[in-house]
Amino acid sequence: MTTRPSKRRKRRVVVTAGPTHEHVDPVRYLGNESSGKMGFELARAAAARGDSVVLIAGPVHQETPKGVKRVDVVSARDMLAATREAFERADVLIMAAAVADWRPKRRRAGKWREKDSGAEEATLELVKNPDILATLGRRKGDRLIVGFALETGGGRRRALAKMQRKNTDYIVLNDASALRADASTVLILGCDGSEVRLENRSKREIARRLVRLERPVSG
Ligand code: C5P
Repeated sequence: MTTRPSKRRKRRVVVTAGPTHEHVDPVRYLGNESSGKMGFELARAAAARGDSVVLIAGPVHQETPKGVKRVDVVSARDMLAATREAFERADVLIMAAAVADWRPKRRRAGKWREKDSGAEEATLELVKNPDILATLGRRKGDRLIVGFALETGGGRRRALAKMQRKNTDYIVLNDASALRADASTVLILGCDGSEVRLENRSKREIARRLVRLERPVSG
């Protein structure tokens, strides 16, 4: 006699994706090279498993995966507000977004016209953005939280420190070659000391693997 595998409980998954834009004035901003591909693949993979997915997307040109609820945001502060709200009802948070660490201290109402003064140099004052992952990590409860770390050159030690500081269950370490690319090499570090390396895999394949992660059982 064959027994049917027990039905998996549907999870409420929140995924963040893409860069944030931090405006200097109405037409200029500080941004980064993130395409949002990894986050969109994660949302697609979670929805395909039957999870209920909220995708909080920075400014990117990506099609919304089927069955995913998308919330578009621009700045890190917008992303924090939207993610915090979705997090309240979530079982899983995957922070794949490349959140800007800094924003201009002042957003000018009109165009920044520093050059009109004839100056050859200008200074843009920056202030620190909130760390979304660390903020929500402090209210983790029994949620599963996965963060990303993009490091240039190694960075395993820094990624492990990040996992501790931001209170995540896993950190996915990748390097700058992942930006805009379809494939990536990642090291999935778990707070239980586990390490899984996925070498030169498509982001779709990496996403399928990541949405299967469970909370590590603490010894
Ligand atoms: O500190 P670092 O930016 O390398 O950390 C990367 C991780 O933290 C990513 O998961 C990113 O989404 C998240 N992050 C965040 N808020 C920030 C900066 C990074 O949630 N202001």
